[in-house]
Amino acid sequence: MAFKHIAEIPGYVGKEVALRGWVHRHRATKNNVFIVLRDSTGVVQCVVKKDAKFFEDAERVGIETSIAVKGTVKKDERAPGGHELTLNSFKVVGPSEEFPITKDQSTEFLLDVRHLWLRSQRMTQMMKARAYLLGYFRDWFKENGFWEVSPPILTVTGCEGGSTLFSIDYFGRKAYLSQSAQLYLEAISYSLERVYSLTPSFRAEKSRTTRHLIEYWHLEAEEAFVDNEGNMKIEEELISYACQKLAKEHPQILKFFGREPKEMLAVKPPFERLSYDEMLEELKHKGIDLPWGEDPGAKEEKALTMDRKKPLFVYNYPRGAKAFYMKKADEKHVACADLLAPEGHGEIIGGSERIWDLKELLQSIKEFGLNPKDYEWYVDLRRYGSVPHSGFGLGVERTLKWILKLEHIRDAVPFPRTINRVYP
Ligand code: 4AD
Ligand code: MG
Repeated sequence: MAFKHIAEIPGYVGKEVALRGWVHRHRATKNNVFIVLRDSTGVVQCVVKKDAKFFEDAERVGIETSIAVKGTVKKDERAPGGHELTLNSFKVVGPSEEFPITKDQSTEFLLDVRHLWLRSQRMTQMMKARAYLLGYFRDWFKENGFWEVSPPILTVTGCEGGSTLFSIDYFGRKAYLSQSAQLYLEAISYSLERVYSLTPSFRAEKSRTTRHLIEYWHLEAEEAFVDNEGNMKIEEELISYACQKLAKEHPQILKFFGREPKEMLAVKPPFERLSYDEMLEELKHKGIDLPWGEDPGAKEEKALTMDRKKPLFVYNYPRGAKAFYMKKADEKHVACADLLAPEGHGEIIGGSERIWDLKELLQSIKEFGLNPKDYEWYVDLRRYGSVPHSGFGLGVERTLKWILKLEHIRDAVPFPRTINRVYP
């Protein structure tokens, strides 16, 4: 008899099915054993009656034991999932020692046993949401003429400033783990025009916050012949597409996390746009005095987005607050935009138009105090048929933190790497 998944059970009412999975919950009374069985698609309650010859095996079975069962399906409104199975066959696949996770354990303990905690409903739902989200992003890129490409992770060319670079010993030379694929995507965009990549990025962030990871997944795009405004349009289309799809195709996952699907349906273009200088004005009205030239931090972003329902673009930051590769919008500002998620979550995307003129780039590298030798190949792109181009990077975990209303970014990834945790 072929095994079915728990999600298929509604099609088998009154019939027999074979299932396999793990013991999620277990309760024994004098005449019945109730086992809530879990597989990748859901949970179902199984009942073993006193007269079954495997009654004692079922009575003894521990939480998280893997089992294979057969039984007859009946509808039962009171059971989780609305169905119940009366078992006529029960086999242990792999026994379980006493499972260390019980109710009400500390966050630290659950992080210590993350490899086991991933079996929880919460982690399972998060990982599904994450997989769907990444799938929608890919779908959108494919439908809009972007090529998926694979840039390197080991580099010598820093992208986002030296202070967060992770250095490694590369056979006696110093190399870094990638902070961003951007510089490589720029090179590839002069071949394929519109490209994107999904890679891990690394930031040696000394800060312990609810929105920083040391290793995070970075969805980055680069587009030839596109300016800063065109770049923002691409970002808002991409985000809206994914939010709409999640709300329409998987509303139950959103609801599991307390997110109303209609809030995601409301995420559609155009997103509001505030210039950096307008943002300072708004902050002032909210009682926050951010000096001109400074990058807004978590506090400022929270104040800006707390009462908003849709993501917000803040564009044209002061040059000194941003990276060396950004094109000037005027003498004081660069043509860039950060996308801030609503409800206090803050920055989820950083993007900009790139300097595409040779002299301007050389000048900027000098002004930012970078070693021109490390950037020769990157500068080279401006020597051979340079064109205006723009791109952006989206933090996958930050985006998921917003969509699923998570309190901490570490719950948007199976095995979080934070300043004090690289195990398990
Ligand atoms: O704003 P960032 O530093 O921009 C870049 O890296 C550009 N080179 C991207 C590009 O244009 N191709 O990072 C982009 C995004 C941020 O908006 C944020 O969502 C995420 O990456 N991010 C982090 N996510 C988790 N933990 C961290 N430590 C992060 N640092 C950045
Ligand atoms: Mg940024």
